[in-house]
Amino acid sequence: MSLPLHFAPRRLILAAPALLLGPAAAQVPLTPAQMEGPYFPRAIPADADADLMRVAGQPRMARGQPLRFEGVVRGRDGAPLAGVRVQIWQADADGIYLHPADPRLSARDTGFQGYGSTITDNAGRYAFRTIRPGLYPGRTPHIHMRTTSADGRLDLTTQAYFPESPQNERDFLLRNLSAERRALLMMTLSPTDDGQLARFDIVLG
Ligand SMILES: [Fe+2]
Repeated sequence: MSLPLHFAPRRLILAAPALLLGPAAAQVPLTPAQMEGPYFPRAIPADADADLMRVAGQPRMARGQPLRFEGVVRGRDGAPLAGVRVQIWQADADGIYLHPADPRLSARDTGFQGYGSTITDNAGRYAFRTIRPGLYPGRTPHIHMRTTSADGRLDLTTQAYFPESPQNERDFLLRNLSAERRALLMMTLSPTDDGQLARFDIVLG
């Protein structure tokens, strides 16, 4: 590509920054941070694996629509990051958190784990089996996440959203974001045999 940079159409620059500007500028947009919120578990549950639909010792599975929640964690240069700890926490199918401050705690689904943790593989991939979170007052549906690099230096707390939710427009956290930053917090959804696949990639920097 020998096109001089100052003659290149703007659209082309946006479409292929790595090609035109070289590796030093080949940065991908960082995933925006979002507030932790009040419901990070006060005590990590005994079963804290990546399958939130099944709780050890509990015969019944979680209620709700199954959601495979997965993605790749990358650094700001776009390279996948292995060994990243990914934690998620979310409401159950009725919008109730595994947290003593949730006013409806006594009615929560005990078949739902509420929190899960995993580590990215060598390709930077993580995957959870969970459900679509139910609505609770004042928010649009979302999954809380915290991603921490293996050396602990990169640590992002954020929230992942469902692009088709009508409540997104009124959500107090989403509506203050630019369209570009909002888009970075949206999952990509596709149907599966028993529910949905939600893809959510993360860039730490
Ligand atoms: Fe929340």
